[in-house]
Amino acid sequence: APAAAPPPPVDGDLDRLRGAAHACRRCELWRDATQTVFGEGPRDARIVVVGEQPGDTEDLRGRPFVGPAGELFDRALAELGLDRARFYVTNAVKHFRFEMRGKVRLHRNPEVMHQRACHAWLEGELAAIRPEVVVCLGAIAARAVFGTRFRLMASRGTWHVQDDGSRGFATVHPAWVLRQPVGALREAAWRGFVDDLALLRERDR
Ligand code: URA
Repeated sequence: APAAAPPPPVDGDLDRLRGAAHACRRCELWRDATQTVFGEGPRDARIVVVGEQPGDTEDLRGRPFVGPAGELFDRALAELGLDRARFYVTNAVKHFRFEMRGKVRLHRNPEVMHQRACHAWLEGELAAIRPEVVVCLGAIAARAVFGTRFRLMASRGTWHVQDDGSRGFATVHPAWVLRQPVGALREAAWRGFVDDLALLRERDR
């Protein structure tokens, strides 16, 4: 982060945090993105879901997981009988990153410096909400929450107890499921995603 960037307010006030995030200049992603896509959901949510970064649809609408990946996530929750409205949903990086290919804005993964610059916002959200369970979608989210040594494919779908006593687990990113070739591979990826998320049933009572 640039030295001049003020630290985000980590005082448990989610509205203040959101307001400050909308003016964030801690990395350069704000320049080309439409807006900061902050987390949304009840401030007393027991479950926080962390994704990677807003995509094209999220950038335009200003809400997390409302594009194709979000639709797949919603379908998984519906299959499990879980209600997304009870979750606080956010991302590890809060601005869309892309390159232009003709008229199309093509998603680019956030670099480590973007993840680092944005980390204080996620920390602030978790500190304000203090959830019982954190669900990480994809490796970037999992490393932001569980540490950079986390290995997604070795540890997905199993509980991790954090230092502060909260629990969490990681699963694959729904966009990764959508990138699998249609057929048996996509079906297996989808089943694995839903099976991992079924851990939430133990916690969502
Ligand atoms: N992918 C993510 O990781 N987050 C979103 O909000 C949308 C797509």
